[in-house]
Amino acid sequence: MAWRGYRYEGVLLYFWLYISTAKVPPRSADDALIYLQARNRNAAHQISGYLHRENGYYVQYIEGPKIALDRLKRLIRRDWRHENVRALAEGRVQARRFSGWDMAFTNEETSSFRAYRTVFGGEPDISKASAKEILEFMDETALSGKARSVADVA
Ligand SMILES: Cc1cc2nc3c(=O)[nH]c(=O)nc-3n(C[C@H](O)[C@H](O)[C@H](O)COP(=O)(O)O)c2cc1C
Repeated sequence: MAWRGYRYEGVLLYFWLYISTAKVPPRSADDALIYLQARNRNAAHQISGYLHRENGYYVQYIEGPKIALDRLKRLIRRDWRHENVRALAEGRVQARRFSGWDMAFTNEETSSFRAYRTVFGGEPDISKASAKEILEFMDETALSGKARSVADVA
């Protein structure tokens, strides 16, 4: 019998968490287009995730099958709308963290990392925060319903 440890949906799942410096203004058409592209592509490629923008940084968590994830990582790394893409964490996941989210998204107005950390402690500057601190924030905001699915903005 085939070994089936850590399998989900019949394929192994991987994730990538990074931070980058935004080059397009917040709430601009260029910024909005990122979310629309994510919605259009992610569902078709079995990618789910979370994108947050704060203080001129994007932090994004994406997860999915390896081939689709690697392809998306390449697209994102060379996207002109941001720079200094730096990985904070990556690896295997046993189950999706943001199942049901083509791409959840928040910004400092809808849900501020700094405000969250001021209440709960830890590093308030998102550019200095650890992967664990960022993921806790994402988990919390997605579960509390503060994150929006891109489907909500269409
Ligand atoms: C911060 C950031 C996050 C992005 N996230 C995604 C994403 O989750 N999914 C996606 O397909 N494209 C995402 N993109 C866009 C890709 O880099 C790329 O432009 C897009 O996938 C190409 O789509 P197209 O082939 O339909 O033109 C993101 C871009 C940036 C700058």
